[in-house]
Amino acid sequence: MSSISVHSINHLVAEFEVPGDKSISHRAAILGGLSDGSCRIDNFLPSEDCICTLNAMAQLGAKHDVIEEKPGYGPTSLVIHGRSMQLSAPEGSVDCGNSGTGMRLLAGLLAAQPFQSILTGDASLQSRPMGRIIKPLEQMGASIEARGDDPGCAPLHITGGELHPTCYEMPVASAQVKSAVLLAGLFAEGSTSVIQPAETRDHTERMLEYFKMPSQREGQTISVTGGKTPEAGSLRVPGDISSAAFWLVAAASMPGAHLVIKNVGLNPTRTAILDVLIRMGADIKVVAHPDECGEPYGDVEVHGKALEGTEIKPEEVPNLIDEIPVLAVAGALAKGKMVIRNAKELRVKESDRIATVVKNLKAMGADLEEYEDGMEISGGKPLHGAELESFGDHRIAMAFAIAGLFAASETVIHNTACIDTSYPGFADHLETILAG
Ligand code: S3P
Repeated sequence: MSSISVHSINHLVAEFEVPGDKSISHRAAILGGLSDGSCRIDNFLPSEDCICTLNAMAQLGAKHDVIEEKPGYGPTSLVIHGRSMQLSAPEGSVDCGNSGTGMRLLAGLLAAQPFQSILTGDASLQSRPMGRIIKPLEQMGASIEARGDDPGCAPLHITGGELHPTCYEMPVASAQVKSAVLLAGLFAEGSTSVIQPAETRDHTERMLEYFKMPSQREGQTISVTGGKTPEAGSLRVPGDISSAAFWLVAAASMPGAHLVIKNVGLNPTRTAILDVLIRMGADIKVVAHPDECGEPYGDVEVHGKALEGTEIKPEEVPNLIDEIPVLAVAGALAKGKMVIRNAKELRVKESDRIATVVKNLKAMGADLEEYEDGMEISGGKPLHGAELESFGDHRIAMAFAIAGLFAASETVIHNTACIDTSYPGFADHLETILAG
């Protein structure tokens, strides 16, 4: 099992790109595989999560040819051959690895197929709640049995079939649930709607539009009309702002630092991390390029300064849910209070991210209090190095590598292989930063 050692630095000047967006890569594999022709996807994220989804689509008949790959990881450019909405029954169970997005989106697809299928994943994924997608998909006519050790958890045994449209009011603000229902709705006759309690990332809607199957939106209600086939097209995936977030926090918190992240996704349902850092006093400039393939992207430039804590607003939480671990690190480094509440969803991510962030920050000497739905950090206490666990959670591993850049002594994070689920090449970027 691998580990990462980090020492403090006081100089950070860098310019680079982060790998492709994870959410967009999953959707490109799925919608490309449903399309009516061959779709070239460039800057695909060759992470374990996205490769699982690509392999799942191949198991369902939508094969791909690799054009370029990141050695040791997987494809970064590929052509996926769409099946015009006609999938075939998979042989054996479909393994989603560590990916909640993969499992929930694929469940939406499989709920509508005239065959039985099984979705499974690793121990972490088998402990995450799937009732949230089972309920609406059963409402549409599928039958899904959660046969995991924990109630409502994977493996999911799906008996798909002809679905009828529904209007589903989601109890949690989840783009994964929204997308599962919308994907199922593509196969149902008539209009399927999802009502979200708050804005969630809209990559599915944008990609549907790009593939000429626009969804309709009225307030927080999003609808799709079934019975059409996505038109094949080529797309380029922008860099993942959730991966950029680690470096943005490091640079923003380090007086004198200068960082440019090029060609990163700037979808407004994902950029609250920038708003929060700016509210904390960060010096951040964004140069937007013209949208590509329906997604905004551009370059983000940061000059480091001492930051101050802030309160994360309830409506910001779904927009920066994946960035909260590293924002908590920013809060510990900043002066004053950082308040993160209304974020109970963090407890059902790849780890219980409230518990794991609090445990690791305390181990480094930070002063903070844990709540059921978040934490309150009294920032500015000097951090010291520590031996930390990743808890098998990629974002915890990377967030604490960033914390280690500011700690008085060496920090070791154990069990870091999980980083490959979202950020292949993180260790190389870290090494460059550590070397100054
Ligand atoms: C994702 C949505 C978010 C996020 C996850 C990716 C997506 O989950 O945490 O990493 O691609 O739709 P929820 O929508 O369940 O909050």
